[in-house]
Amino acid sequence: MARTIAVVNQKGGVGKTTTAVNLAVLCSIARKRCLLVDLDPQANATSGLGLQASRPTSIGAALAGSAPLEQILLAAKIEGLEVAPGHHSLIEVEQSLVTRHDSHGVLRSLLESGGRDYDLVFIDCPPSLGLLPFSALVAAHSVLVPIQCEYFAMEGLTQILATISQVREVANPSLQMEGILFTMFDPSLQHSVEIIEEVSSHLPNDTLETIIPRDIALSEAASFGQPIVRYDPASRGARAYIELTREILNAGQ
Ligand SMILES: Nc1ncnc2c1ncn2[C@@H]1O[C@H](COP(=O)(O)OP(=O)(O)O)[C@@H](O)[C@H]1O
Ligand SMILES: [Mg+2]
Repeated sequence: MARTIAVVNQKGGVGKTTTAVNLAVLCSIARKRCLLVDLDPQANATSGLGLQASRPTSIGAALAGSAPLEQILLAAKIEGLEVAPGHHSLIEVEQSLVTRHDSHGVLRSLLESGGRDYDLVFIDCPPSLGLLPFSALVAAHSVLVPIQCEYFAMEGLTQILATISQVREVANPSLQMEGILFTMFDPSLQHSVEIIEEVSSHLPNDTLETIIPRDIALSEAASFGQPIVRYDPASRGARAYIELTREILNAGQ
């Protein structure tokens, strides 16, 4: 059974997609068989790997039951990495799932049958705590929460932790915290340093050691449809994501 990690934060622009894409790529390079599930209607994880789907060939179709998971998978240009691509029709799929009694378990069922052959599954979530992220938490073994080192990070975190508790109670009691990941860190900003101290002192066991620095190369790479290790392997962003990959792979042993 694949180790399934949901990348969740209800805020947009905090580094979820960058983290999901680069972790999936680096774990594949480390010879793990990986699946990246793009649950965001904006499909940035899909385009960030230079891929594209249509409505009937996206994860939305699989969630709606109109295509088996195997049929919608795309091969990334990285050996060992497959992508269940996102598409803007996921907005409608999410709305239609609301009326189904088993809506929270749909992704889990898909991955239980179609995700068996992977070592790792990463789920990139849209910026909400709605049905799609909830279903990702139901399907996952653990949650990775990227947070931007800025004011109000703690408030947002409280909401996510409450949702995680709720998921544990109603559907997935063994859901674990993979960790809180500080992203876009700029050591010259005093408040960045303060946020890390505040969050780490409240949740000392839940913060990852690796800190992702602010690095323009990470956004350039995404706009060229490339992972950072291909676009600029010597960049600080690449080095940080390599370190994070080591930390995540070690935690799973
Ligand atoms: N560490 C970083 N340094 C600089 N830019 C980053 C970094 N991480 C992400 N970005 C850029 O910031 C924007 C938001 O990141 P993204 O991963 O898409 O966030 P989310 O998925 O949470 O909305 C994107 O343009 C991305 O390329
Ligand atoms: Mg995103």
